[in-house]
Amino acid sequence: MKEIKFYHGENIPLELHKVRVVQKLHLVPIERRLEALYEGGFNTFRLNTKDVFLDMLTDSGTNAMSDNQLAAMMQADDAYAGSQSFYRLQKAVEDVLGKKYYLPVHQGRAAENILSNAYVRKGNLVPMNYHFTTAMAHITQYGGKIAELLYDEAYVINSSHPFKGNMNIEKLEEIIKIHGAKNIPFIRMEASTNLIGGQPFSIQNLRDVRAIADKYNLRLVLDASLLGENAYLVIQREEEFKNSSMGEVMQTITGLADIVYFSARKLSSSRGGGICTNNFEIYRELEALVPLFEGFLTYGGISVREIEAMAVGLYETLDETMISQSPSFIAYLVNALDAHGVPMIKPAGVLGAHVDAMQVCDHIPQKEYPAGALAAALYLISGIRGMERGSISNQRDEYGNETYADMELVRLAVPRRVFTLSQIKYVEDRMSWLYDNRRLIGGLRFVYEPPVLRFFMGGLEPVSDWPEKLIAKFKEDFGDSL
Ligand code: F0G
Repeated sequence: MKEIKFYHGENIPLELHKVRVVQKLHLVPIERRLEALYEGGFNTFRLNTKDVFLDMLTDSGTNAMSDNQLAAMMQADDAYAGSQSFYRLQKAVEDVLGKKYYLPVHQGRAAENILSNAYVRKGNLVPMNYHFTTAMAHITQYGGKIAELLYDEAYVINSSHPFKGNMNIEKLEEIIKIHGAKNIPFIRMEASTNLIGGQPFSIQNLRDVRAIADKYNLRLVLDASLLGENAYLVIQREEEFKNSSMGEVMQTITGLADIVYFSARKLSSSRGGGICTNNFEIYRELEALVPLFEGFLTYGGISVREIEAMAVGLYETLDETMISQSPSFIAYLVNALDAHGVPMIKPAGVLGAHVDAMQVCDHIPQKEYPAGALAAALYLISGIRGMERGSISNQRDEYGNETYADMELVRLAVPRRVFTLSQIKYVEDRMSWLYDNRRLIGGLRFVYEPPVLRFFMGGLEPVSDWPEKLIAKFKEDFGDSL
């Protein structure tokens, strides 16, 4: 994609779309934000968006839809079985992802449930570049374990490595030898590895993983939820593909996997999800589980309107100017905060900007959840809702012991085409202020801890009156500004 140069040399990401539908936002006073935190157990998942100014919790189901997606929703063909909308989607999956057989599911984790149900047995091990919360929860739910096989450089916060999502090939082969191929139901590769900061893998690395899968006769499963962004970064960063189109790169990636699954809430800016393959045997193995858990095979628990939006959204992932919008805003925010000294995951990845709470809150021990505390503090002083991606998002081990995350991150998601640059500048401003006042942030402790995926509905409380002290300093510096 051609870069647009500015006369004065300033390098700002330029929006290549116009806004035609808007939603009013509210920035409520800081006192209300404190109340909202107490009501929501200091957990940003539990905030009501009426109290949220910039919702940077996730890009899942929050990307702006295009005019063509909305138009397509109007021609949805409501039918329990054989809906024409489904056949349009099936064609889009084949055209864009290059897979003939498609099973619809209501969202990404439903695909993980079906794959785990079909293939994971007690005592199995699933090697992967890195886990995603729901993928891991389903594998462990069916009695399996995971092995995370990133290279060491993936854990380096301030890095210039272009492909931190790469799988460590030597370790992969070692793990297969130790555990035996028969105990490995599949190898899982995640595009734009979410929990380490939206970091891509290279196609060369995926080819190497494929070679190992072939050598040991193992299935290779691709989590393609963030495939568009991974493909975009391959074009940017992998020499061999610098002149390739999005379509070519995406199909090169999906072509290396036996099974591709995705959350359409991310991939195609809609709702829904899917599993696809070119292997009829695999299709048959999974087919029976769709009506059991999701719905009939031509809707899979997805509304037909969303099926239409998904089909159009899939074709739109081929448009580099659309896919590049979020990563270019993220790079802008990461570079601006980095210049202010805020420790950020680098290089800038996709999905969101990731703040390293372990460093920002190095005075808060991991058992008091530095990333959760930073996410709560940022909401308090700005109305910006980020997401904790650290130890609160981890699950306890099989003996009930706390397992601390490799990284304590606060993710500031930048959904596609939702925010303006001045809003991003507000994030930069408030996060910089918070960084300068970081010693005022204190820890959190659980008061209610659900047994599975505890981060969603868990309740916490501050270990001291640090929120009140932070408010006092905010008032000192900003007076009665919101
Ligand atoms: N895989 C990846 C890489 C994901 O990022 C997600 C969801 C899923 C699977 C599960 O898909 O939500 O449709 O069931 N990620 C969201 C996030 C929740 O905020 O990053 P789902």
